[in-house]
Amino acid sequence: MAASDKPVVLITGASSGIGDTTARKFAANGYNIVAVARRQERLEQLASELAGTARVEILTADVADPRTPKRAVALAMATFGRLDCLVNNAGAGTWAPVAETTDEMMDTVIDVSLKGPFRFCREAQPHMQPGSSIINVGSVFGTLGGLDGGIYCAVKAGLVGLTQTMAAQYGAQGIRTNLVAPGVIRTDMTDAAWEAPPFQRLNHEMTPFNREGTTEDVANAIFFLASDQGSYINGQSLALDGGWSTTKYLCHEALVCDRVPG
Ligand SMILES: NC(=O)c1ccc[n+]([C@@H]2O[C@H](COP(=O)([O-])OP(=O)(O)OC[C@H]3O[C@@H](n4cnc5c(N)ncnc54)[C@H](OP(=O)(O)O)[C@@H]3O)[C@@H](O)[C@H]2O)c1
Repeated sequence: MAASDKPVVLITGASSGIGDTTARKFAANGYNIVAVARRQERLEQLASELAGTARVEILTADVADPRTPKRAVALAMATFGRLDCLVNNAGAGTWAPVAETTDEMMDTVIDVSLKGPFRFCREAQPHMQPGSSIINVGSVFGTLGGLDGGIYCAVKAGLVGLTQTMAAQYGAQGIRTNLVAPGVIRTDMTDAAWEAPPFQRLNHEMTPFNREGTTEDVANAIFFLASDQGSYINGQSLALDGGWSTTKYLCHEALVCDRVPG
């Protein structure tokens, strides 16, 4: 079959939050999309809203299922005949101290957020041409660690290793791999904790910037890294946190505020 004229992006976790906004960003910039997540109705809603702009192929599947990456890449190739970008965005947000992390919690987060992206990279790379790229969605907590970060931080750190390994191995073929590391962004994953004092302090007192981060901020960075504008960037981790991870504790409000009791 003839390959699609438009470039094609495969996005995991496209049913909400960062993945949904990223799909809209790529669609607005001329991409067709393969959207993967478990909530079919959300994916159908995305596809129908983008109908005039992009063709969106849906795969309703669990990224922890070892068969899903192969199915998703096969769908991209069968439908569009090309795959220009992979965004490994789906993630599970299980938070607990190491001492309270069960094997079941460990397995869930590793399966969804490390084995899943690893398998997607493995399946996608052989179909990618020079100029293609992969973006993994990590977290600033993956490089800093974090209170109650347990398996989540360990897995996000693992994605940095995967990113650098992919960059080293396939950069010479013109396939770039990078990682975006959001700070705290308001999505379904964080919504319930948004007004809690630690989040408010992190977002306002400890972040030297005058607004909260948005899913658009993350999507813009993902698109930039995928685009020709980012064509010499390979193996990098880009923090999207208003400067928090590099300046935390140094902004005036943090230095003058009282320590949280306990
Ligand atoms: N929000 C933040 O502050 C923040 C900060 C740092 C990093 N991140 C990372 O950003 C990524 C996106 O999260 P978000 O904040 O946008 O949260 P979100 O709105 O809850 O989105 C998570 C997405 O992942 C999908 N997903 C989760 N488990 C899946 C599974 N087993 N199989 C297939 N899809 C799965 C969900 O789709 P279904 O439920 O439909 O399957 C959903 O589309 C995650 O990797 C997260 O760790 C977020």
